[in-house]
Amino acid sequence: MREFLGFRKTRAAAAFFFCMALLAVSGYGQAIPGRWAAKGKTMENGEVSRTILDLKQAGNDLSGKLIGLGYGVDVKGTATGTHFELFGVGWDEKTPLIVGEAVNGELHFTQWGDKYAARPATPADEIVLPAYIEPPPLHKVPYNGLAKTPPMGWNSWNLFAEKVDDKTVRTMADAMVSSGMKAAGYIYVNIDDTWEGVRDAQGNLQTNHKFPDMKALAAYVHSKGLKIGIYSSPGPRTCGGYPASYGHEAQDAKTFASWGIDYLKYDWCSAGNIYKNDALQPVYQKMGDALQASGRPIVYSLCEYGMGSVEKWAPEVSGNLWRTTGDINDSWDSMIANIEKQVPTAPYAGPGHWNDPDMLEIGNGHMSDDEYRVHMSLWSLTAAPLLAGNDIRTMSDTTKSILLNKEVIAIDQDPLGKQASPVKSGDLETWTKPLADGSVAVGVVNLGSAAAPATVKATDLNLAGPVKKARDLWAQKEVKFNAGAYTATVPSHGVLLLRVSAK
Ligand code: GLA
Repeated sequence: MREFLGFRKTRAAAAFFFCMALLAVSGYGQAIPGRWAAKGKTMENGEVSRTILDLKQAGNDLSGKLIGLGYGVDVKGTATGTHFELFGVGWDEKTPLIVGEAVNGELHFTQWGDKYAARPATPADEIVLPAYIEPPPLHKVPYNGLAKTPPMGWNSWNLFAEKVDDKTVRTMADAMVSSGMKAAGYIYVNIDDTWEGVRDAQGNLQTNHKFPDMKALAAYVHSKGLKIGIYSSPGPRTCGGYPASYGHEAQDAKTFASWGIDYLKYDWCSAGNIYKNDALQPVYQKMGDALQASGRPIVYSLCEYGMGSVEKWAPEVSGNLWRTTGDINDSWDSMIANIEKQVPTAPYAGPGHWNDPDMLEIGNGHMSDDEYRVHMSLWSLTAAPLLAGNDIRTMSDTTKSILLNKEVIAIDQDPLGKQASPVKSGDLETWTKPLADGSVAVGVVNLGSAAAPATVKATDLNLAGPVKKARDLWAQKEVKFNAGAYTATVPSHGVLLLRVSAK
């Protein structure tokens, strides 16, 4: 018996080691391809976010799809042993979206700073999409008569992201008044993503714990002489994974109107998991109709990152402004890339209809003062919406001097509504914008790493006669054109901004 047991033990041990050897050879426990599921953090409305990562491997190359509650992204990348890196297709090609390791039958990875442990996906993990609803056939939605000049205000996303709450918005509204922002024209106080709760039994979208009473908050913002904006998506979920307006467009527009909302940013996000991208126009039209039927004037801000030449059809769905780019971040490269990307859209800007290269980063701390002056100058020269994205309760004097420069704001808000385009010469880029009173705004931006002399020639400005008056809007002083030209030194990543007139 003992011997038999001994034999059984030896045989079991041999089988065990044989299996382990096989597993090691096959790489079991270290495999990267497959369909993986990970739970994310608990969202502000109590739901737990989820991610599916579906990967194929050929040699060292990985490809597949990353699906979250609020987005679906094609990914590609590489595997080196157990290590893998994935990039969003068409996204930033330098910074991986996901970096991870295969560890004991799991994928451990980091995405947007959050850590995940993914296990092989089961049917219960799948993100189930609601049934497809065909968008209505195309028709023209009339202009809502709003945003005759580019909207100005503040938006919560750039600085606060999911940390925005009722108190932040109230104190920001207070600061809009006390800082002089309101007097300078910044009127909209806009709540971005992460305010959403869940739908009640009647399908009404509720707020989450951060916004106990949206109607009362809107009344507070209105009591300051300001207006209030909110955020949703034509998909079932917002980019942050919160419930959005798919299948509830008319109902949500009515809810927003009943709260007293004056502005809606409508962000594509998970709509990409439901609709084909050629459905952009009918999908945005559906909410355009819903807003107009809501009985309240609501500025309509489209956010689909410039897909499908949005500038050509957005006015036909009653869009007042539309994003032309991906998300800005607080860096020189991102800011310049966004403004350059919107150059081809220039012919489509005009009263009621604006190209939007994304919100301002001025005062958020990662660009120099000169760079922030370039940011403000370029947004104004291109008639872009001016939505501050900083903490206006604690602005430095320099930040104030940039955001509150009334002569620069007047360039942005000029009633003619023309969008400047650049002419490049070496490191210098000259942007010229004709203004309603016949004068011209001209900005020379130095993209180079050394200070450089910039010359503005009157003959390039299309004025009705010789220069009578020229003003440097950042130095806030008159300057003189000699023999039809003005020359000044522009610092690296700085700007010379003039308003020149023949009158
Ligand atoms: C997208 C938008 C951003 C912001 C976030 C919120 O990324 O482009 O401006 O609204 O969603 O989730």
